[in-house]
Amino acid sequence: MLNIAVLVSGGGSNLQAIIDAVACGELPVRIALVLSDRRGAYALERARQHGIPTAVVRPRDYADRPAFDDAVAEILAEHQVELVCLAGFMRLFQADFMRRYAGRVINIHPALLPAFPGLHVQREALEHGVKVSGCTVHFADEGTDTGPIIVQRAVPVLEDDTVETLSARILEQEHLAYVEAIRLYAAGRLRICGRRVRVLPPAPPAGLANCPTEGPTD
Ligand code: GRF
Repeated sequence: MLNIAVLVSGGGSNLQAIIDAVACGELPVRIALVLSDRRGAYALERARQHGIPTAVVRPRDYADRPAFDDAVAEILAEHQVELVCLAGFMRLFQADFMRRYAGRVINIHPALLPAFPGLHVQREALEHGVKVSGCTVHFADEGTDTGPIIVQRAVPVLEDDTVETLSARILEQEHLAYVEAIRLYAAGRLRICGRRVRVLPPAPPAGLANCPTEGPTD
């Protein structure tokens, strides 16, 4: 089973969606580690409640960013993590880390990329006057919210929306999108082709996989 780590900085509602999907058998992965850059992140509490190993790696405890990245990489390796899921993790990794984990780090973003990368994007979407927003799960690269897109889900922007109501509507879809993206990855159904992520069809049921095709008869 695929070993994943979920990296968090805050409340961890996306983490909770992943935990719930694993618990009810919808998502065949093992959450090997929840790692936070902040001691107080409530997401850590959610992990502990479910008996999931946790780690806190704080940038202030390291001389520079490469040293912080190395410390994270070391802990991920100790837990034999195969896929890193950024879920509200407020740090960017540098080039060395991203090369080491190329194609094995995914992120969730509360807007329809490439529109509105970065922070405070629900406010930006409202202020810009878009009629549709949503969320994006994408492979992470060295940029901010720039990697190839795996799954997107759209939500309408309503006349009386505030940042809070729009964020809540997007967050509901984030929980579905993240579980879906991890499920596709775990099933080996994602191929990165340049900027595009191809989603392969599901594998046929085991019993049918090796059926011989009938040759011509004469
Ligand atoms: C989500 O909106 C996610 O898209 C963004 O940070 C927020 C994290 O929320 N990157 P939570 O901690 O999963 O509740």
